[in-house]
Amino acid sequence: MLKKIQETADFLKKEISARPKTGIILGTGLGNLVTQMTEKREIPYDIIPHFPVSTVEGHSGKLIFGKLGDVDIMAMQGRFHYYEGYEMKEVTFPVRVMKALGIENLLVSNASGGMNPDFEIGDLMIITDHINVFPEHPLRGKNHNELGARFPDMSEAYSKDFILRAKDIAEKHSIKVVEGVYVGTSGPTFETPAEYNYFRIIGGDAVGMSTVPEVIVANHAGMRVFGMSIITDLGVPGKIVEVSHEEVQEIGNKAQPLMTLIMKELVAQL
Ligand code: HPA
Repeated sequence: MLKKIQETADFLKKEISARPKTGIILGTGLGNLVTQMTEKREIPYDIIPHFPVSTVEGHSGKLIFGKLGDVDIMAMQGRFHYYEGYEMKEVTFPVRVMKALGIENLLVSNASGGMNPDFEIGDLMIITDHINVFPEHPLRGKNHNELGARFPDMSEAYSKDFILRAKDIAEKHSIKVVEGVYVGTSGPTFETPAEYNYFRIIGGDAVGMSTVPEVIVANHAGMRVFGMSIITDLGVPGKIVEVSHEEVQEIGNKAQPLMTLIMKELVAQL
């Protein structure tokens, strides 16, 4: 794995002269962030050595290097979901490569179903913490001390400093944000009412099918993390209705400008 990470990083270093410190995984709600980037250099996943290739509908796959405002960033358009069949090591490989390229801050977004009864559809949730209920752990197996500790601390998996900054930015622009714990599950099914209830009881505010593996690896690698989720449907008793991928995307798209604004201003401060 170490050799693969190095080979991929070396390939990208030859392609790109900038050395960004901030990486962004463009999940739901951040697709448009790319249109705000300048001096863009796009590298499709299928020409990057050792990179998995994205398969899911509505998620094209490429790395995009460029500037957001005055800041050099590296963006991943299209992530690798566990439910697609990738191994955990593949899902999180891009984060390893980011670290090898010098990325220190990782920003992520996603869509989720809200279990917190105070949430509304379309809310932006700042992720304060997560609960990992994926059936597999991305750090299982031999630990490479070069990459991180055998037993990584997770007491501040999401940077408190970044959370405070994001809340200030949201307040300044009168953008409503909520905060909560993200439960990461494998999918691809959405939850049964009993499962939403279970995830609420164990301490979750929202549930989705991504992010947790990448955030675990980012913490293992010593990166600082910020995450936001768009609440696209509700897993709250009495409010549970049929959910579809299309609806999730539609609600995600609507919230996009606000999430993009918060991320853009946060990047400028890092
Ligand atoms: N459950 C899991 N993943 C999701 C949901 C949900 O309700 N909504 C958007 N992604």
